[in-house]
Amino acid sequence: MSLVSKQQITGERKLVAPTIKIVPVGGFFIRNLLKLQSFKDIVYVKLGISDFYLITNPDMIKEVLVTKQRDFIKGEFLQRTKKVFGEGLLTSEGNFHHRERRLVQPAFHHDHIESYAKIMVSYADQVTSEWKDREILDIHSEMERLTMRIVAKCLFNADLESESKTLPKDLTLMIDYFSRLSSPLAKILQKLPTNKKYDLALKRIDKMMYELIESRRSQGNNDEGDLLSMLLSAKDETGAGMSDTQLRDEVLILFAAGHETTANALTWTWYLLSQNPTVEKKMHSEVDAIIGKGSLPTASDYEKLEYTTKVFSESMRLYPPAWVLVRQSLEDCIIGGYYIPKGSGVVMSQFVTHRDPRFFEKPEEFYPERWTSDMKEKLPKFAYFPFGGGPRSCVGEPFAWMEGALLLATISRKWKMNHIKSHRVEMLPRITLRPKYGMKMQLIQR
Ligand code: HEM
Repeated sequence: MSLVSKQQITGERKLVAPTIKIVPVGGFFIRNLLKLQSFKDIVYVKLGISDFYLITNPDMIKEVLVTKQRDFIKGEFLQRTKKVFGEGLLTSEGNFHHRERRLVQPAFHHDHIESYAKIMVSYADQVTSEWKDREILDIHSEMERLTMRIVAKCLFNADLESESKTLPKDLTLMIDYFSRLSSPLAKILQKLPTNKKYDLALKRIDKMMYELIESRRSQGNNDEGDLLSMLLSAKDETGAGMSDTQLRDEVLILFAAGHETTANALTWTWYLLSQNPTVEKKMHSEVDAIIGKGSLPTASDYEKLEYTTKVFSESMRLYPPAWVLVRQSLEDCIIGGYYIPKGSGVVMSQFVTHRDPRFFEKPEEFYPERWTSDMKEKLPKFAYFPFGGGPRSCVGEPFAWMEGALLLATISRKWKMNHIKSHRVEMLPRITLRPKYGMKMQLIQR
């Protein structure tokens, strides 16, 4: 590929900028982003008052996230969001991030998987046992409640049954706030009086996080084998342990990242299943054959739930919970032969690349059968990247794959869901891809 200058890129491609010259709000924005696909590989975009390079070519995405990752940081975009999440795994850079990653990673090793599987299915069974036949519920709230309880129990050995109705709402407010802070108009948005509700939600969340830490400290941090015990006993090179603020930041980030994404993925999956009865039937047959109604799935069943896993993969292709990744270049650099000046914003969107007809036949179709071993082998690595890649890839990826398949199986062995036709479905692209109006569905006992 020939080397082109910034002038060539901007001069040639800037023509498309007016179509998305808005602050990113709602499904309109995300659909417009798709139009940029026709420019292939790289396009210069003006978003609000900021300039970005949108990269859609998988090999170039690999360069940014993996092979040339040292030339990029999460950058200014992330600095602003520290007001909510502080300094933890998701928000830190450099050596600090490296150290935190080494601390947290063991909680996701294979030897924990079996105990996590038990928690996932028993909570799914518990939450759904409160459901009634023909009842209409917002499935998005139900999934948030469930995935939040799961992550709290698996990583921090905390049962948050009573908090599970209010905490996801506060965390949702935080995600809204996070989006405001990362918007190009952050400086103006931060001054609005409506921000009071975010401050109050943050206070409630902080209170809960500090209580969780304090109660474990006051028990002398008996090693409960969970991530909180590991974090509490971690020492830096000077022998000092983590402060309460550091612990709060890490715990909050894992709470937020560990439940919100999975809840969105499951919600979109239930919606897609309700719109595609043939797929739904096929998944039910697999679940009935492997699990049956009388028992609960186990960690070893997860490997057998092949079609269910394909359904989950396909749902995250169409509605990737993390729909965009942003980086900032530290130096002038060349990506795929294109010149990216120092300090530029680089955007890679799962939503755009996952719907690229160069890699996915009939990309708008929900077709889990496409996920054959042969197809996966031929697919360029970063044509499908719901969990990112490189040193900043999702630390919870194995956890999320298992949780997705096991919750789909546990729930659908007894329940089918019909989307309420009058209920509007729209994407809300914040830091995650949420259903804007929740997801009203009628529960049908199977
Ligand atoms: C379907 C579910 C999930 C999806 C789609 C997802 C997606 C992602 C993506 C794309 C990133 C990389 C962000 C970037 O490069 O800027 C990420 C990072 C992260 N995820 Fe997930 N995630 C999911 C579930 C989870 C779970 C279950 C946990 C924890 C229990 C988790 C914890 C994290 C953390 C801590 C990071 C930051 C990692 C680092 O920077 O080293 N995620 N996730």
